[in-house]
Amino acid sequence: KALIQYANRIPKAELHVHVEGTLYPSLLHRFANRNGIPTSALQHKDPQTEYEFEGYSGFIDLYSSNCQVLVNEPDFYELTRDYFVRARQQGIRHAEVFCDPQLHTRRGVPISTIINGICNAMDTAETEMGVSGKLILCYFEDGGPHGHRRKGEMDPIEELRSVQEDPNIKKDRLAGIGGYSYDPNAPYKQLKPVYEYARSVGLKTVVHAGEYGPASSVREAIKTLRVDRVDHGVRSAEDLTVLRLVERTKTPLTVCPLSNVRLGFYESLQKHPLRMLMQGGCLLTLNSDDPAYIGASLSDNFRSCIEQLHLSRGEIKTLAINSVDVSFASDARKEAIR
Ligand code: ADE
Ligand code: ZN
Repeated sequence: KALIQYANRIPKAELHVHVEGTLYPSLLHRFANRNGIPTSALQHKDPQTEYEFEGYSGFIDLYSSNCQVLVNEPDFYELTRDYFVRARQQGIRHAEVFCDPQLHTRRGVPISTIINGICNAMDTAETEMGVSGKLILCYFEDGGPHGHRRKGEMDPIEELRSVQEDPNIKKDRLAGIGGYSYDPNAPYKQLKPVYEYARSVGLKTVVHAGEYGPASSVREAIKTLRVDRVDHGVRSAEDLTVLRLVERTKTPLTVCPLSNVRLGFYESLQKHPLRMLMQGGCLLTLNSDDPAYIGASLSDNFRSCIEQLHLSRGEIKTLAINSVDVSFASDARKEAIR
Protein backbone atom coordinates (compact mmCIF):
# COMPACT_ATOMS: atom_id res chain seq x y z
CA LYS A 1 0.00 0.00 0.00
CA ALA A 2 2.97 2.26 0.65
CA LEU A 3 4.08 1.65 -2.95
CA ILE A 4 0.68 2.70 -4.29
CA GLN A 5 0.93 5.96 -2.37
CA TYR A 6 4.49 6.42 -3.60
CA ALA A 7 3.36 5.97 -7.22
CA ASN A 8 0.59 8.49 -6.72
CA ARG A 9 2.87 11.07 -5.12
CA ILE A 10 5.97 10.89 -7.28
CA PRO A 11 6.09 13.70 -9.89
CA LYS A 12 5.37 12.25 -13.31
CA ALA A 13 4.04 12.92 -16.79
CA GLU A 14 1.25 11.22 -18.70
CA LEU A 15 2.19 10.97 -22.38
CA HIS A 16 -0.56 8.82 -23.86
CA VAL A 17 -4.07 10.01 -23.13
CA HIS A 18 -6.72 10.83 -25.75
CA VAL A 19 -8.84 13.84 -24.87
CA GLU A 20 -11.83 12.08 -26.47
CA GLY A 21 -11.01 9.12 -24.23
CA THR A 22 -11.57 11.27 -21.14
CA LEU A 23 -15.23 11.94 -22.09
CA TYR A 24 -16.96 10.33 -19.09
CA PRO A 25 -20.68 9.45 -19.41
CA SER A 26 -21.60 12.43 -17.18
CA LEU A 27 -19.75 14.83 -19.51
CA LEU A 28 -21.19 13.11 -22.58
CA HIS A 29 -24.71 13.85 -21.36
CA ARG A 30 -23.92 17.37 -20.18
CA PHE A 31 -22.52 18.31 -23.60
CA ALA A 32 -25.34 16.49 -25.43
CA ASN A 33 -28.00 18.37 -23.45
CA ARG A 34 -26.56 21.80 -24.02
CA ASN A 35 -25.93 21.14 -27.71
CA GLY A 36 -29.45 19.88 -28.35
CA ILE A 37 -28.43 16.30 -29.08
CA PRO A 38 -31.20 13.94 -27.92
CA THR A 39 -30.38 10.94 -25.73
CA SER A 40 -31.86 8.78 -28.49
CA ALA A 41 -28.88 9.75 -30.68
CA LEU A 42 -26.43 8.43 -28.09
CA GLN A 43 -25.29 4.81 -27.84
CA HIS A 44 -24.83 5.22 -24.08
CA LYS A 45 -28.07 6.38 -22.47
CA ASP A 46 -27.29 6.57 -18.75
CA PRO A 47 -24.88 9.23 -17.45
CA GLN A 48 -24.62 7.33 -14.14
CA THR A 49 -23.26 4.05 -15.52
CA GLU A 50 -19.92 3.13 -17.06
CA TYR A 51 -19.53 2.59 -20.79
CA GLU A 52 -20.21 -0.87 -22.13
CA PHE A 53 -18.58 -2.20 -25.29
CA GLU A 54 -17.24 -5.42 -26.78
CA GLY A 55 -13.52 -5.48 -27.45
CA TYR A 56 -11.46 -3.16 -29.57
CA SER A 57 -13.98 -2.78 -32.37
CA GLY A 58 -16.80 -1.93 -29.97
CA PHE A 59 -14.54 0.60 -28.31
CA ILE A 60 -13.65 2.40 -31.54
CA ASP A 61 -17.34 2.54 -32.56
CA LEU A 62 -18.51 4.00 -29.23
CA TYR A 63 -15.56 6.39 -28.91
CA SER A 64 -16.12 7.74 -32.44
CA SER A 65 -19.89 8.01 -32.01
CA ASN A 66 -19.65 9.84 -28.67
CA CYS A 67 -17.58 12.58 -30.31
CA GLN A 68 -20.79 14.02 -31.79
CA VAL A 69 -21.45 15.85 -28.50
CA LEU A 70 -18.25 17.90 -28.86
CA VAL A 71 -19.36 20.91 -30.88
CA ASN A 72 -18.24 24.26 -29.48
CA GLU A 73 -15.02 25.59 -27.99
CA PRO A 74 -16.33 25.40 -24.37
CA ASP A 75 -16.92 21.65 -24.89
CA PHE A 76 -13.26 21.07 -25.73
CA TYR A 77 -12.22 23.47 -22.98
CA GLU A 78 -14.26 21.78 -20.24
CA LEU A 79 -13.38 18.28 -21.39
CA THR A 80 -9.68 19.15 -21.16
CA ARG A 81 -10.00 21.02 -17.87
CA ASP A 82 -11.83 18.06 -16.34
CA TYR A 83 -8.92 15.78 -17.26
CA PHE A 84 -6.33 18.13 -15.76
CA VAL A 85 -8.23 18.30 -12.46
CA ARG A 86 -8.02 14.51 -12.22
CA ALA A 87 -4.41 14.53 -13.41
CA ARG A 88 -3.31 16.78 -10.58
CA GLN A 89 -4.88 14.44 -8.03
CA GLN A 90 -2.64 11.65 -9.37
CA GLY A 91 0.65 13.50 -9.10
CA ILE A 92 0.75 14.19 -12.85
CA ARG A 93 2.76 17.38 -13.40
CA HIS A 94 2.78 17.36 -17.20
CA ALA A 95 0.41 15.77 -19.71
CA GLU A 96 0.64 15.29 -23.48
CA VAL A 97 -2.91 14.98 -24.70
CA PHE A 98 -3.92 13.44 -28.02
CA CYS A 99 -6.81 14.63 -30.13
CA ASP A 100 -8.25 13.13 -33.33
CA PRO A 101 -9.17 16.22 -35.41
CA GLN A 102 -10.69 14.12 -38.18
CA LEU A 103 -13.45 12.88 -35.83
CA HIS A 104 -14.49 16.53 -35.38
CA THR A 105 -13.63 18.42 -38.58
CA ARG A 106 -15.63 15.93 -40.66
CA ARG A 107 -18.70 17.01 -38.65
CA GLY A 108 -17.95 20.63 -39.44
CA VAL A 109 -16.10 21.60 -36.26
CA PRO A 110 -13.33 24.05 -37.20
CA ILE A 111 -9.79 23.00 -36.29
CA SER A 112 -9.41 26.38 -34.50
CA THR A 113 -12.30 25.47 -32.14
CA ILE A 114 -10.62 22.19 -31.22
CA ILE A 115 -7.09 23.50 -30.71
CA ASN A 116 -8.04 26.73 -28.95
CA GLY A 117 -10.49 24.98 -26.62
CA ILE A 118 -7.93 22.39 -25.56
CA CYS A 119 -4.93 24.73 -25.35
CA ASN A 120 -6.74 27.48 -23.43
CA ALA A 121 -7.74 24.85 -20.86
CA MET A 122 -4.07 23.84 -20.65
CA ASP A 123 -3.10 27.46 -19.95
CA THR A 124 -5.60 27.56 -17.07
CA ALA A 125 -4.40 24.18 -15.77
CA GLU A 126 -0.80 25.34 -15.67
CA THR A 127 -1.50 28.63 -13.88
CA GLU A 128 -4.14 27.29 -11.49
CA MET A 129 -2.91 23.75 -10.83
CA GLY A 130 0.75 23.68 -11.85
CA VAL A 131 0.15 20.95 -14.42
CA SER A 132 1.63 21.75 -17.83
CA GLY A 133 0.21 20.42 -21.08
CA LYS A 134 1.03 19.79 -24.72
CA LEU A 135 -1.28 18.83 -27.56
CA ILE A 136 -0.59 16.12 -30.14
CA LEU A 137 -2.88 15.94 -33.20
CA CYS A 138 -3.46 12.35 -34.36
CA TYR A 139 -4.27 11.32 -37.94
CA PHE A 140 -5.64 8.09 -39.38
CA GLU A 141 -4.10 5.95 -42.06
CA ASP A 142 -6.87 4.86 -44.39
CA GLY A 143 -8.08 1.27 -44.67
CA GLY A 144 -8.69 -1.61 -42.31
CA PRO A 145 -11.99 -2.31 -40.57
CA HIS A 146 -11.93 1.11 -38.93
CA GLY A 147 -10.54 3.19 -41.78
CA HIS A 148 -11.31 6.71 -40.72
CA ARG A 149 -10.09 8.94 -43.47
CA ARG A 150 -13.10 9.90 -45.55
CA LYS A 151 -13.43 11.20 -49.08
CA GLY A 152 -13.52 14.97 -49.21
CA GLU A 153 -11.69 15.33 -45.93
CA MET A 154 -8.90 17.83 -45.72
CA ASP A 155 -5.45 16.47 -46.28
CA PRO A 156 -3.59 16.47 -42.93
CA ILE A 157 -0.68 18.36 -44.50
CA GLU A 158 -3.02 21.10 -45.68
CA GLU A 159 -4.66 21.19 -42.28
CA LEU A 160 -1.31 21.48 -40.47
CA ARG A 161 -0.24 24.19 -42.90
CA SER A 162 -3.45 26.12 -42.25
CA VAL A 163 -2.88 25.80 -38.50
CA GLN A 164 0.66 27.15 -38.81
CA GLU A 165 -0.57 30.10 -40.88
CA ASP A 166 -3.68 31.05 -38.89
CA PRO A 167 -2.89 33.84 -36.42
CA ASN A 168 -6.09 33.03 -34.51
CA ILE A 169 -4.95 29.50 -33.60
CA LYS A 170 -2.95 29.03 -30.42
CA LYS A 171 0.21 27.16 -31.32
CA ASP A 172 2.50 27.39 -28.29
CA ARG A 173 1.21 24.09 -26.86
CA LEU A 174 1.07 22.16 -30.12
CA ALA A 175 3.95 19.72 -29.67
CA GLY A 176 3.52 17.35 -32.55
CA ILE A 177 1.49 14.80 -34.44
CA GLY A 178 0.48 11.22 -33.84
CA GLY A 179 -1.38 8.62 -35.83
CA TYR A 180 -3.00 5.24 -36.21
CA SER A 181 -3.40 2.54 -38.77
CA TYR A 182 -6.37 0.24 -38.37
CA ASP A 183 -5.12 -1.93 -41.18
CA PRO A 184 -3.06 -4.66 -39.51
CA ASN A 185 -0.63 -4.76 -42.39
CA ALA A 186 -0.59 -1.12 -43.50
CA PRO A 187 2.88 0.33 -43.41
CA TYR A 188 1.69 3.92 -42.75
CA LYS A 189 1.88 4.73 -46.46
CA GLN A 190 -0.39 7.80 -46.37
CA LEU A 191 0.98 9.02 -43.07
CA LYS A 192 4.61 9.09 -44.20
CA PRO A 193 4.44 12.43 -46.09
CA VAL A 194 2.43 13.92 -43.22
CA TYR A 195 5.19 12.94 -40.79
CA GLU A 196 7.86 14.37 -43.07
CA TYR A 197 5.96 17.63 -43.31
CA ALA A 198 5.46 17.78 -39.53
CA ARG A 199 9.16 17.21 -38.90
CA SER A 200 10.08 19.89 -41.43
CA VAL A 201 8.12 22.48 -39.45
CA GLY A 202 9.66 21.41 -36.15
CA LEU A 203 6.85 19.23 -34.79
CA LYS A 204 7.58 16.06 -32.82
CA THR A 205 6.13 12.75 -34.02
CA VAL A 206 4.62 9.68 -32.36
CA VAL A 207 2.40 6.89 -33.69
CA HIS A 208 0.28 4.02 -32.38
CA ALA A 209 2.02 0.76 -33.27
CA GLY A 210 2.46 -2.71 -31.84
CA GLU A 211 -1.03 -2.74 -30.30
CA TYR A 212 -3.64 -3.28 -33.01
CA GLY A 213 -0.74 -3.68 -35.42
CA PRO A 214 1.84 -6.49 -35.16
CA ALA A 215 5.48 -6.18 -34.03
CA SER A 216 6.43 -5.22 -37.59
CA SER A 217 4.32 -2.05 -37.28
CA VAL A 218 6.77 -0.90 -34.60
CA ARG A 219 9.64 -1.41 -37.04
CA GLU A 220 7.72 0.64 -39.64
CA ALA A 221 7.07 3.35 -37.07
CA ILE A 222 10.78 3.64 -36.26
CA LYS A 223 12.28 3.09 -39.70
CA THR A 224 9.67 4.61 -42.03
CA LEU A 225 7.94 7.28 -39.95
CA ARG A 226 11.09 7.91 -37.84
CA VAL A 227 8.99 8.75 -34.79
CA ASP A 228 10.28 10.20 -31.53
CA ARG A 229 8.16 7.77 -29.49
CA VAL A 230 5.93 4.77 -30.16
CA ASP A 231 2.50 4.62 -28.52
CA HIS A 232 1.91 1.14 -27.03
CA GLY A 233 4.63 -0.77 -28.92
CA VAL A 234 4.01 -3.70 -26.60
CA ARG A 235 3.83 -6.29 -29.35
CA SER A 236 7.54 -5.64 -29.96
CA ALA A 237 7.83 -8.37 -27.34
CA GLU A 238 6.74 -10.87 -30.03
CA ASP A 239 9.74 -10.30 -32.30
CA LEU A 240 13.28 -10.26 -30.96
CA THR A 241 14.63 -8.25 -33.91
CA VAL A 242 12.03 -5.52 -33.30
CA LEU A 243 12.73 -5.57 -29.58
CA ARG A 244 16.45 -5.07 -30.30
CA LEU A 245 15.60 -2.17 -32.64
CA VAL A 246 13.52 -0.47 -29.95
CA GLU A 247 16.36 -0.89 -27.46
CA ARG A 248 19.14 0.15 -29.84
CA THR A 249 17.31 3.29 -31.00
CA LYS A 250 16.17 4.02 -27.42
CA THR A 251 12.68 4.67 -28.77
CA PRO A 252 10.39 5.30 -25.78
CA LEU A 253 7.19 3.22 -25.59
CA THR A 254 4.10 4.78 -23.97
CA VAL A 255 2.53 1.65 -22.51
CA CYS A 256 -1.11 1.41 -21.37
CA PRO A 257 -1.46 -1.95 -19.61
CA LEU A 258 -5.09 -1.76 -18.43
CA SER A 259 -6.20 -0.43 -21.83
CA ASN A 260 -4.48 -3.37 -23.53
CA VAL A 261 -6.35 -5.81 -21.29
CA ARG A 262 -9.75 -4.06 -21.50
CA LEU A 263 -9.57 -3.76 -25.30
CA GLY A 264 -8.77 -7.45 -25.58
CA PHE A 265 -5.12 -7.47 -26.66
CA TYR A 266 -4.12 -9.51 -23.59
CA GLU A 267 -6.24 -11.92 -21.57
CA SER A 268 -5.04 -10.53 -18.25
CA LEU A 269 -2.41 -8.26 -16.77
CA GLN A 270 -0.40 -11.38 -15.90
CA LYS A 271 -0.07 -12.05 -19.64
CA HIS A 272 0.99 -8.47 -20.41
CA PRO A 273 4.62 -8.07 -21.55
CA LEU A 274 5.34 -4.97 -19.41
CA ARG A 275 7.82 -6.78 -17.19
CA MET A 276 9.57 -8.52 -20.08
CA LEU A 277 9.93 -5.19 -21.96
CA MET A 278 11.24 -3.48 -18.84
CA GLN A 279 13.82 -6.20 -18.24
CA GLY A 280 14.73 -6.09 -21.93
CA GLY A 281 15.93 -2.54 -21.35
CA CYS A 282 13.18 -0.63 -23.18
CA LEU A 283 12.48 2.96 -22.21
CA LEU A 284 8.90 2.68 -20.92
CA THR A 285 6.26 4.99 -19.49
CA LEU A 286 2.89 4.07 -17.97
CA ASN A 287 -0.30 5.72 -19.28
CA SER A 288 -4.10 5.47 -19.16
CA ASP A 289 -4.95 5.84 -22.91
CA ASP A 290 -8.73 6.35 -22.62
CA PRO A 291 -9.57 6.50 -18.89
CA ALA A 292 -13.32 7.10 -19.32
CA TYR A 293 -13.69 3.99 -21.48
CA ILE A 294 -11.12 1.72 -19.85
CA GLY A 295 -12.46 2.70 -16.44
CA ALA A 296 -8.93 3.26 -15.17
CA SER A 297 -6.74 6.30 -14.53
CA LEU A 298 -2.95 6.44 -14.58
CA SER A 299 -2.99 5.84 -10.81
CA ASP A 300 -5.14 2.75 -11.39
CA ASN A 301 -2.58 1.48 -13.91
CA PHE A 302 0.22 1.92 -11.36
CA ARG A 303 -1.86 0.23 -8.66
CA SER A 304 -2.74 -2.78 -10.80
CA CYS A 305 0.86 -3.20 -11.96
CA ILE A 306 2.10 -2.97 -8.38
CA GLU A 307 -0.44 -5.53 -7.18
CA GLN A 308 -0.35 -7.94 -10.08
CA LEU A 309 3.05 -7.49 -11.71
CA HIS A 310 4.84 -6.67 -8.45
CA LEU A 311 6.46 -3.43 -9.58
CA SER A 312 9.17 -2.45 -7.11
CA ARG A 313 9.84 1.01 -5.71
CA GLY A 314 12.82 1.34 -8.04
CA GLU A 315 10.75 0.34 -11.06
CA ILE A 316 8.03 2.86 -10.17
CA LYS A 317 10.68 5.55 -9.86
CA THR A 318 12.19 4.62 -13.22
CA LEU A 319 8.78 4.75 -14.94
CA ALA A 320 8.06 8.16 -13.42
CA ILE A 321 11.49 9.60 -14.31
CA ASN A 322 11.24 8.19 -17.84
CA SER A 323 7.88 9.91 -18.32
CA VAL A 324 9.39 13.33 -17.61
CA ASP A 325 12.62 12.62 -19.54
CA VAL A 326 10.96 11.48 -22.77
CA SER A 327 8.23 14.13 -22.70
CA PHE A 328 8.24 17.07 -25.10
CA ALA A 329 8.33 19.58 -22.24
CA SER A 330 11.10 22.19 -22.30
CA ASP A 331 14.30 21.40 -20.41
CA ALA A 332 13.41 24.12 -17.91
CA ARG A 333 9.99 22.57 -17.31
CA LYS A 334 11.47 19.06 -16.94
CA GLU A 335 13.92 20.44 -14.38
CA ALA A 336 11.07 22.10 -12.47
CA ILE A 337 9.09 18.83 -12.34
CA ARG A 338 11.98 16.59 -11.17
N1 ADE B 1 -8.00 5.59 -30.21
C1 ADE B 1 -8.02 5.90 -28.93
N2 ADE B 1 -7.31 5.02 -28.23
C2 ADE B 1 -6.81 4.13 -29.10
C3 ADE B 1 -6.01 3.00 -28.99
N3 ADE B 1 -5.56 2.57 -27.82
N4 ADE B 1 -5.68 2.33 -30.10
C4 ADE B 1 -6.13 2.77 -31.26
N5 ADE B 1 -6.90 3.82 -31.43
C5 ADE B 1 -7.25 4.50 -30.36
ZN1 ZN C 1 -4.01 5.38 -27.58
